[in-house]
Amino acid sequence: MEEGLAVETRELVKKYGNFTAVDHLNLKIDRGVTYGLLGPNGSGKTTTIKVLCDLLKPTGGEAFLLGKKVGDNSIAPRIGYMPQETALYLDLSIHDNICLFGEVYGMNRAEIDSAEKNLLEFVDLTKWRNTPVSNLSGGMRHRTSLACSMIHNPELLFMDEPTVGVDPELRASFWEYFETLGKRGATVVITTHYMDEAHRCGKIGMMRQGKLITEGSPQDIIQSTGCGSLEDAFLELARRGGHHAD
Ligand SMILES: Nc1ncnc2c1ncn2[C@@H]1O[C@H](COP(=O)(O)OP(=O)(O)O)[C@@H](O)[C@H]1O
Ligand SMILES: [Mg+2]
Repeated sequence: MEEGLAVETRELVKKYGNFTAVDHLNLKIDRGVTYGLLGPNGSGKTTTIKVLCDLLKPTGGEAFLLGKKVGDNSIAPRIGYMPQETALYLDLSIHDNICLFGEVYGMNRAEIDSAEKNLLEFVDLTKWRNTPVSNLSGGMRHRTSLACSMIHNPELLFMDEPTVGVDPELRASFWEYFETLGKRGATVVITTHYMDEAHRCGKIGMMRQGKLITEGSPQDIIQSTGCGSLEDAFLELARRGGHHAD
């Protein structure tokens, strides 16, 4: 793959039976960018991320992360993934969940402890540290999941709708954190339906029916459609997409 890319896919295909969820996708994401993967429900965003995180095997094509082919064992400790459906152990406390994730990423106890302290402060869950996840609200579970996905300070972070159901204040602090990660050279790939979040991405890729139909900075996309806002630009692109003979 090209030097300097965090993510590259070449003609990536993922089928579920006869249904093609990712359709010859060619994606290139530079390192250090906050990249927004946008598109209507069912356009293949989650499937793409799961293939990149090696949770689903592609049907065709190739995918690379940080210069290595997906499947290479050296990738896992360098990436983080926050799934759309939070994957936490409900019977365990926040602390125990964080430890489990840290151990999976090969961290020792001291490394986990110091990272946990900062992360729990950031997501404002310090005082709930020993509470079972089953006793937490949805928003708190979400923040726990965010902390788990970042415990190992990954170079490349995939966040699938991380801010759904998160209040505006916390959403703003998530974004400050993503921007801090970006300044450190990390790459953040995020899916969202919130236009204010799309605006904060360095680059946006819009998917439709498993393909990338548009890519560029928020400003580029607005200008290319001649619309007044990003939201209108997406509606316009979706409308145009609907007239394609596919
Ligand atoms: N396990 C599955 N089996 C069959 N179809 C699936 C499965 N997961 C997703 N799909 C279908 O693949 C398409 C893309 O889904 P998904 O990647 O979740 O899209 P998005 O994240 O953009 O909403 C949808 O039509 C969805 O119904
Ligand atoms: Mg999804």
